[in-house]
Amino acid sequence: MRTQVVIIGSGPSGLLLGQLLAKEGIDTIILEQKSKDYVLGRIRAGVLEEGAVRLIEQAGAAERLHQQGLIHDGTEIAFDSARHRIDFKGLTGKTVTVYGQTEVTRDLMDARASIGAPTVYEALDVSLHAIESDRPIVRFRANGTVQEIECDYVAGCDGFHGVSRRSIPEDRLKAFERVYPFGWLGVLVDKPPASNELIYVNHERGFALCSMRSTTRSRYYLQCRVDENVEDWPDDKFWEELTRRLDPEAVSKLSTGPSIEKSIAPLRSFVAEPMRFGNLFLAGDAAHIVPPTGAKGLNLAASDVAYLSSAIIDWYRRNSRGGLDAYAGRALARVWKAERFSWWMTQILHRFPEESGFDQRIQRAELEYLFSSTAAQTALAENYVGLPY
Ligand code: FAD
Ligand code: DHB
Repeated sequence: MRTQVVIIGSGPSGLLLGQLLAKEGIDTIILEQKSKDYVLGRIRAGVLEEGAVRLIEQAGAAERLHQQGLIHDGTEIAFDSARHRIDFKGLTGKTVTVYGQTEVTRDLMDARASIGAPTVYEALDVSLHAIESDRPIVRFRANGTVQEIECDYVAGCDGFHGVSRRSIPEDRLKAFERVYPFGWLGVLVDKPPASNELIYVNHERGFALCSMRSTTRSRYYLQCRVDENVEDWPDDKFWEELTRRLDPEAVSKLSTGPSIEKSIAPLRSFVAEPMRFGNLFLAGDAAHIVPPTGAKGLNLAASDVAYLSSAIIDWYRRNSRGGLDAYAGRALARVWKAERFSWWMTQILHRFPEESGFDQRIQRAELEYLFSSTAAQTALAENYVGLPY
């Protein structure tokens, strides 16, 4: 087989890249190791920056997002039982859209199917060859047979555990990492949300987050230990612990019920530099991970794809390599700012097992400063709604 760009991974970054390239008549084949249903069953992010919404529009997959997405003008931070609002719209003129990653993925998959662009699901043993040459080859096994695709470029959109980043020689990649000593236990429930905006909670028992997917479906998170399992958290225990961490008004509005999904995610900051090796370009979680506190993971995948798609389009349309050569530098400049913001949000909102009295006083001072300073709130809002690209 031959195509112009092989995309490894059918998550949001791979699908979005595929659509943006297809709009310009560039051929792609997506190789995804899991089944379509498995990919659609993963519950992940929920908050989209305006830039990500714009890209999904360009990809021709924003109809349902505009019908069902919830526009949020601000968010609340709860501390010492009081809630403090950060007014995104008033401070930056921008908003965010609450619309689940699962739905974004479904809309992009439907858009891809409608143009007949090929995706190979359950593509096993994907391996990359000759990626430093101008004829890279991607090999994989599907339906019991080994197949090979020759291409011009490979886009590594296969997440943190994918094969793309691991195909780069160790001495050509530098990794930066921080692993946090806690995880997030997430629950999805078919009940209306406790508030019409998200509530980020700093509580002495640990962080909590009240989020949502729609006006009838809520998503809640609790900071938990890294060694805990979902089996340790039957629904009753989850609701009881959440209730202890919320302010009285949120508790009075909290509507509980049987969970329809429950999972634990570890928290990590990670960046691999550069995001390119020869004709392999990394995008999204394949190149970087943020702790979820700033709601940046999916949005960073989108900004990488904005830079990468325009670089690839420039090559095919104008024979210009400038965008491809600049890709890693442009993407990483934005990635590191989102890494900083996500690290900072994590730092101010969680309880750290080893924290000293000094650490606690600094965290309190940081929050009190935030609640009292328009400048500090503007800095948070500007990062949360998304830095420009
Ligand atoms: P992914 O969505 O990971 O997609 C990569 C795809 O590549 C997958 O479909 C995978 O099956 C496929 N793949 C992997 N290896 C191979 C291979 N060898 N061959 C072929 N295909 C392969 N962000 C937030 O902002 N808020 C959250 O609440 C949040 N929760 C998260 C919970 C979890 C458990 C995880 C893992 C991430 C979460 N994130 C969250 C981050 C956000 O979901 C990611 O940043 C986003 O999914 C990145 O998209 P991506 O397309 O780059 O990677
Ligand atoms: C959600 C996840 C986040 O990490 C976040 O900061 C906000 C919302 C969510 O899953 O709804």
